[in-house]
Amino acid sequence: MRFLLLTTLLWLGQLCYATTSVHARAPAGTAKVYSAMQPDLVDHVYTINKTELNFLISYYGFKLEGKDPDGTTTGFIHTSPQPSTVPLFRLYAIGRTDHLLTTSTEERDLAVKRLGYHLEGVLGYAYTEEGEGLVPFYRLHNSGAHDHYYTSSKEESEDAARNGWVNEGIVGYLFAS
Ligand SMILES: *[C@@H]1O[C@H](CO)[C@@H](O)[C@H](O)[C@H]1NC(C)=O
Repeated sequence: MRFLLLTTLLWLGQLCYATTSVHARAPAGTAKVYSAMQPDLVDHVYTINKTELNFLISYYGFKLEGKDPDGTTTGFIHTSPQPSTVPLFRLYAIGRTDHLLTTSTEERDLAVKRLGYHLEGVLGYAYTEEGEGLVPFYRLHNSGAHDHYYTSSKEESEDAARNGWVNEGIVGYLFAS
């Protein structure tokens, strides 16, 4: 019974994923960046991996965030290197329960050496400059809560800035959702 339920959920997940892809304006080779938040730990995590997302929701108490049903306004990111893109690294510090995204190899290495982060991998490949169909991906930081939050909505970034997060600028450019 449990197995049947799991299979159905996985199937539904794939169905939703397929539906999203069909309606997306973003080009082939890109994937939707999902945003989820763990309210007890105040940790925002970003992933293009639906399996990981469902795992975080089912086992670690994360919730999809924001106003649209897919979460905070994010965007679509290339899954392989393209001209004018750089890897967007994802790191995690267990002591801070903080996920960090950066395109800077210098910041990545410093975070690993000095701040207790470890490299989880590459979220995707982000553009370094604005362009047709692209939106800025803003990075905000709440040092009290040890939380990094990212959004491609100026409005959401301003909301966060009114609620204790400091705008740290643009990490890169994604295709609009
Ligand atoms: C997606 O996440 C799952 C669960 O964390 C992992 O086993 C799998 O390797 C990931 N897939 C990719 C393509 O990274």
